[in-house]
Amino acid sequence: MVQLTLPKNSQMRTGKTWPKPETGGTLRKFSIYRWSPDDGENPRVDTYFVDLDDCGPMILDALIYIKTKIDPTLTFRRSCREGICGSCAMNIDGINTLACIYGMDEVKGDVKIYPLPHMPVVKDLIPDLTHFYAQHASIHPWLETKSPNPAKEWRQSIEDREKLDGLYECVMCACCSTACPSYWWNSDRFLGPAALLHAYRWIIDSRDEATGERLDDLEDPFKLYRCHTIMNCAKTCPKGLNPAKAIAQIKKTMVERSI
Ligand code: SF4
Ligand code: SF4
Ligand code: FES
Repeated sequence: MVQLTLPKNSQMRTGKTWPKPETGGTLRKFSIYRWSPDDGENPRVDTYFVDLDDCGPMILDALIYIKTKIDPTLTFRRSCREGICGSCAMNIDGINTLACIYGMDEVKGDVKIYPLPHMPVVKDLIPDLTHFYAQHASIHPWLETKSPNPAKEWRQSIEDREKLDGLYECVMCACCSTACPSYWWNSDRFLGPAALLHAYRWIIDSRDEATGERLDDLEDPFKLYRCHTIMNCAKTCPKGLNPAKAIAQIKKTMVERSI
């Protein structure tokens, strides 16, 4: 398990224990981080009990159970419930992951849920990802070309398309970047594993014609080279991707072009 620090606004106070559902089913205890910008109070951890006989198997099912049946003020992001949109990323039992594809049976004992670590919190389990998305935009995550547009489409061989496997599947959940110690301490200047994985995705795209400019832009002591291959990013990615490998490939490409 990756050891993680708490969110940035975390002088904790004693939380509330909510009444157990009187349904007669099997109960599971959840400890969940709560913070609201509206009450001027420090964060707390509230305790809830979920009836497993009346709830789906995933952590997101339990959060929806709590919000629907116990405490409608509990706030979290979710959309697809299929591990595709990346919006339900949070820290569950010490691991950054997606609540909708993380089974309750993967957690031993009580379930502890916090927002993604080391980020400002908007409310409860929702981190502020403004800076994370701005960093993603900064790598120009789109096809850049100089040749005249083809009549129909930019073609790519099957072999070149396969080079994008392990990269295009990223759902921008931020689990990796918020598990990266280098990103915790230097997120103002280090782009972090998610943005760098996307940078590599476009660097190796056979159709892209801005490879030199993309590499020039990353040739910086902080943007790229703050990665020290600690590998937390690859350990935690809920889609099984390896941002550290993509970062290593960018560094290798940098060396090869300077020879
Ligand atoms: S390998 Fe690099 S990007 Fe990944 S967690 Fe370690 S320092 Fe961060
Ligand atoms: S690489 Fe994995 S952990 Fe990082 S943003 Fe993409 S899907 Fe999420
Ligand atoms: S709700 Fe979309 S990834 Fe979890």
